[in-house]
Amino acid sequence: MNPDLDRLQPYPFEKLRALFAGVTPSAALAPISLSIGEPRHATPDLVKAALAGNLSGLASYPATAGTPALREAIAAWLMRRYTLPAVDATSQVLPVNGSREALFAIAQTVIDRTRGAVVICPNPFYQIYEGAALLAGATPEFANAARDRGFAVDYASVPADVWPRVQLLYVCSPGNPTGRVMTLDEWARLFEASDRHGFVIASDECYSELYLDETRPPLGALEAAHRLGRTDFRRIVVLSSLSKRSNVPGMRSGFAAGDAEILKRFLVYRTYHGGAMSPPVQVASAAAWRDEAHVVENRRLYREKFAAALPLVSAPLETAMPDGGFYLWVRTPVPDAEFARELFRQYNVSVLPGSYLARESGGTNPGRNYVRVALVAQFDDCIEGIRRIAEFARSI
Ligand SMILES: Cc1ncc(COP(=O)(O)O)c(C=O)c1O
Repeated sequence: MNPDLDRLQPYPFEKLRALFAGVTPSAALAPISLSIGEPRHATPDLVKAALAGNLSGLASYPATAGTPALREAIAAWLMRRYTLPAVDATSQVLPVNGSREALFAIAQTVIDRTRGAVVICPNPFYQIYEGAALLAGATPEFANAARDRGFAVDYASVPADVWPRVQLLYVCSPGNPTGRVMTLDEWARLFEASDRHGFVIASDECYSELYLDETRPPLGALEAAHRLGRTDFRRIVVLSSLSKRSNVPGMRSGFAAGDAEILKRFLVYRTYHGGAMSPPVQVASAAAWRDEAHVVENRRLYREKFAAALPLVSAPLETAMPDGGFYLWVRTPVPDAEFARELFRQYNVSVLPGSYLARESGGTNPGRNYVRVALVAQFDDCIEGIRRIAEFARSI
């Protein structure tokens, strides 16, 4: 067996199951789950129709590089969304089967395990980054995103002697769970560090299309690079997804875009790994990337939920409107696991303890005394769940 498998941590939801084991929630209240970050709005008809109308594609093996039509649809979307003058569909874009597998696979592609590699992860973070680093033979290093810096990742906390060993740095913007979007200044500093030390930046942008102000779409890594005059996207790979944007988490569809040299090697890795996308999924994905109307409607549904939820929850508890994503990151007056367990017992609402999404670093777990509340359920369930959270908070 691969000994690195033993270094993987239990997934946050396994920890949540263990926390709730033996707890009997109040039978008087219907269960409401706000713990899992799975989109639940309806899949658009245009995506379902494109998928159903192209089932004949199941009769052939797909190319790992994807069809030119899909790559062009993605490149055109990137240029529109981020006002980029040029994205080359042949060399700067690759389809992937959801951002999760690509976030994992990029580490296996870029890391040289013979050189004591370090991978920097934000903290709290999406657990795949850590597992990808460990299975690539690297050591994860966590940079905290805490309240005192407005949840910006504190890269200055990474010791000077660690930076020369950094081979990969994961960014998550908008962040899961904090919802924070990286600023252009922060990008400029990261690009400088990448130039100095030669590490690759893997930018997880799977929440990029879920934002609350239609006039302020989140800044992306390629857009930041372009604005800072880095037209070749050197050492940047963006991982994006249709799961949240188009409510198709089961379709497993996303893309990698950026540095053409890295993507060339990524394609080699993926060819051996078996990372090709099913042909009907490719057609449905191209249709989804070409359409924005359903995404505008999707954002409207989230905006309605956030507008109703925030005043209810922010009276008794500390939280704020996120820059993007579908989570509220809520400060708890008692330890987060205790808060989550008692909320489940007394009000039959499940939320995720923040400490399960973070690691101890610099003497602290930056998820401690926070819970992540996912506003993914339908409006009425979300608001009823939030109302119960507020009532519970008042009773503490
Ligand atoms: C931060 C983050 N990145 C990536 C993913 C993976 O999404 P997908 O593989 O559906 O694109 C998720 C899913 O919840 C996530 O929260």
